[in-house]
Amino acid sequence: MKALILSGGKGTRLRPLTYTGAKQLVPVANKPILWYGIEAIAAAGITDIGIIISPETGEEVKTKTGNGDRFGAKITYILQDKPAGLAHAVKIAHPFLENAPFLMYLGDNLVQSDLRLFVDRFKERNLDSLILLCTVPNPTAFGVAKIDEDGRVLELVEKPKVPPSNLALVGIYMFSNAVHNAIAKIQPSPRSELEITDAIQYLINQPNSKVEARQLEGWWLDTGKKDDLLEANRTILDACLNCTVLGEVDAQSQVIGRVQIGAGSKIINCTIRGPVTIGTDCHMENSFIGPYSSVADHVTLIDADLEHSVILQGAQVVGIHQRIVDSVIGQRAQLKVAPRRPKALRFMIGDDSQIELV
Ligand code: G1P
Repeated sequence: MKALILSGGKGTRLRPLTYTGAKQLVPVANKPILWYGIEAIAAAGITDIGIIISPETGEEVKTKTGNGDRFGAKITYILQDKPAGLAHAVKIAHPFLENAPFLMYLGDNLVQSDLRLFVDRFKERNLDSLILLCTVPNPTAFGVAKIDEDGRVLELVEKPKVPPSNLALVGIYMFSNAVHNAIAKIQPSPRSELEITDAIQYLINQPNSKVEARQLEGWWLDTGKKDDLLEANRTILDACLNCTVLGEVDAQSQVIGRVQIGAGSKIINCTIRGPVTIGTDCHMENSFIGPYSSVADHVTLIDADLEHSVILQGAQVVGIHQRIVDSVIGQRAQLKVAPRRPKALRFMIGDDSQIELV
């Protein structure tokens, strides 16, 4: 079995972070979102992985993620020159997939469940497709499934105005080679994309086809927006943080709870209350770093108070005496107190930034 991870798309809902980088590389607990998916797939025993990349962010994804050695997998990159839909991505990946059954994974999703259970079921039952579902409060934002009591899928609708259920399609699917014929038969949707939902519906409509759905039991996080990202960060820090302190913590500092501090980081007169992860070569001084914060490499935090936030690489927060909460601060961003008069707020804010002042 092979796997196909989709890591294209424009990431419009995570702007401005995605003006300068792929949404799948935004870190959650200091690890790119995409890598959680690769690890989950490798852990399910699938090591031949294709990753769909876009012209805008493909090089960055490739450079950062590499050939798969670090995951014990072999990664092949496949360029999709335009965002023409999930089924279009499968179409262009056909030479890589050949006629092997495969698991398709949308690269900005995180799930708690072990994928092996689903892969085994798909193989044992010799299915044409196995789709994963999760109940959501806002089904109009997703692909939605109508299923019968035996878990058989009756109907799938993409972003329905009137949803047939509250069961959303999680971005993880398994297919036999029958999906290639289904994709050849469907037409672009009103949003001009070849929808995987339509291809699965085509499979469902064929006599004797075997399409099944399974509901996820643990959490499912779609990291598309800022609040989703913070929620993913919180969930991952709660579930998977190992305590390792490699950096230097001085005698005036207090480190409480589960905290990870990377090599070369210096913690001077700070209180850190976990779960917190701090990357390598950071400088933290006279600061409070509260629960559910992830601080990437090379960050400076002086006279700052932080909680439930994600700070990306190279950012500097200096002299901000109000507590920063529920925030995402981008790479190399600087948040400082103005040293001179007249006393005023001075900004250089990237496009689509959001700032809330008190
Ligand atoms: C895609 C799929 C949708 C699915 C969702 C899960 O939507 O088209 O069926 O429910 O992923 O994240 P998108 O996020 O591209 O709007």
